[in-house]
Amino acid sequence: MKKLIEAAKKVRKNAHAIYSNYKVGAAVLTSDDSIITGCNVESSSYGLTCCAERTALFSAIAQGHKNFKELAVVTENGGTPCGACRQVIWDLCGNIPVYISDKNGNIEKTTSKDLLPNAFDSEKLK
Ligand code: THU
Repeated sequence: MKKLIEAAKKVRKNAHAIYSNYKVGAAVLTSDDSIITGCNVESSSYGLTCCAERTALFSAIAQGHKNFKELAVVTENGGTPCGACRQVIWDLCGNIPVYISDKNGNIEKTTSKDLLPNAFDSEKLK
């Protein structure tokens, strides 16, 4: 957990958050124990912004990873994943531990299921 949070903290420095100035870092642990990271990347057309969690998960998928064990998110003040990210985390990771840390290392431990109870997912499409 510590290593994953450290990775999220480190990549948070790369955030392109020139509009909100709210930097976010995320790191996901894959089933083969790789750590893949992502930061938020903002657009002048605000809605095109990609959150750190989705940057990390989409990068991991692009690198060929398919299964995920844990996710860490680091923000200034312990901000939690947005609704869109909660859906994507659930879709790609299922129920995994999620560690949310502020920049001072205060950690909240939760799960993707607790973040998105009664989730819609691919099961409903069958
Ligand atoms: N942000 C994330 O990166 N992750 C979240 O789950 C919440 C919001 C980013 C998006 C935007 O760049 C900034 O934080 C302010 O909303």
